Amino acid sequence: MSAPLRVAVVGCGDVSSVHFDAIAHDPLAELVAVCDTDAGRREAASARYSVPGFASISELIDAVHPDVVHISTSHDQHAVLAIAALEAGVNVILEKPLAHTREAGDALVAAAEGSGAKIGICFQNRYNTPVRAAKELLESGRLGKVVGASGTVIWHRTREYYEDRPWRGTWANGGGGLLMNQAIHTLDLLQWLLGDVQKVTGGAATRTLAGVIEVEDTADLVLEHAGGARSTFFATLSNAVNDPVTIEIAAERGTLSLRGDLVATFADGTVETVTETVTATGERAYWGASHARLIHDFYESLSRPEPFWISPREARKTLEIIQSVYDQAYPGRHVVA
Ligand SMILES: NC(=O)c1ccc[n+]([C@@H]2O[C@H](COP(=O)([O-])OP(=O)(O)OC[C@H]3O[C@@H](n4cnc5c(N)ncnc54)[C@H](O)[C@@H]3O)[C@@H](O)[C@H]2O)c1
Repeated sequence: MSAPLRVAVVGCGDVSSVHFDAIAHDPLAELVAVCDTDAGRREAASARYSVPGFASISELIDAVHPDVVHISTSHDQHAVLAIAALEAGVNVILEKPLAHTREAGDALVAAAEGSGAKIGICFQNRYNTPVRAAKELLESGRLGKVVGASGTVIWHRTREYYEDRPWRGTWANGGGGLLMNQAIHTLDLLQWLLGDVQKVTGGAATRTLAGVIEVEDTADLVLEHAGGARSTFFATLSNAVNDPVTIEIAAERGTLSLRGDLVATFADGTVETVTETVTATGERAYWGASHARLIHDFYESLSRPEPFWISPREARKTLEIIQSVYDQAYPGRHVVA
């Protein structure tokens, strides 16, 4: 067996625990360093995992030359840090979104496609067992042509969630709100399952968090997919609780209903249910259980010549959907890349 990949985590905040857990349980990897600009979080992670901590990605790369960096920082740092790693020949696992603006996303697409190193974006819900089953059913032709679909993300976020991490509520650092941070996963699944989005009509507004955040907490969209299907999407952070994410797909010979599990109902009365084999609990239930699967798949992909399948160009599709809504809801808005 070859030596484990030497990996580092850049950004030791809330979601980093999922990355640290995945690395610890993956036989292909070994954690060798951490990085955070915040001294408290850097020192806590360094002590907890007994690895050196660095205040910048460049110091980390110069000192330990990792095989892979996991980047889990605020959105405005995604492109700049990922480009720095790729330019140094270091492979990257990058949290969603691709970037906080179209321009930064385009720069990362160009850097990735000109680099010998690999990069994958964390749209981990594509690895959920029921989602995989839905994709296979749609591709099998058993359901016939898709007529239309709907998706919802009806959640709750508190004032404290934003006060604790002010970047999440700003255009400059978050690049947007609900769409960029939470609903992006379900938009990614809608376009992956139904086809590339050719036109977006949408609105966004701040319903209950006005005065706390600059960015939107509620949005509604109509997506027109290549192939002719249309889907509607509603998302809010103004609900009293976090309801299950839903995707409903109507096709000529049956329907697919994703609410955690997948229920496929066929015109002949047959019903098939696919459940998730690994369940996430607590705060992680919102993030799903599939980070570890994506991360393992990325590590394995390093021994193959082709780019990782959830590439910057692939992740750019969802960024474009969201930016199109912002163009319509906030004409004249300009976020510096
Ligand atoms: N895939 C998912 O399901 C999922 C879930 C939650 C969060 N996320 C994503 O993970 C990322 C982090 O979210 P979070 O909630 O953990 O945020 P957070 O604020 O808790 O953590 C981010 C950390 O990055 C550090 N940081 C910022 N700039 C840095 C830089 N230039 N170099 C090094 N460190 C830097 C901050 O000090 C902070 O500790 C975001 O992109 C978010 O969208 C993804």
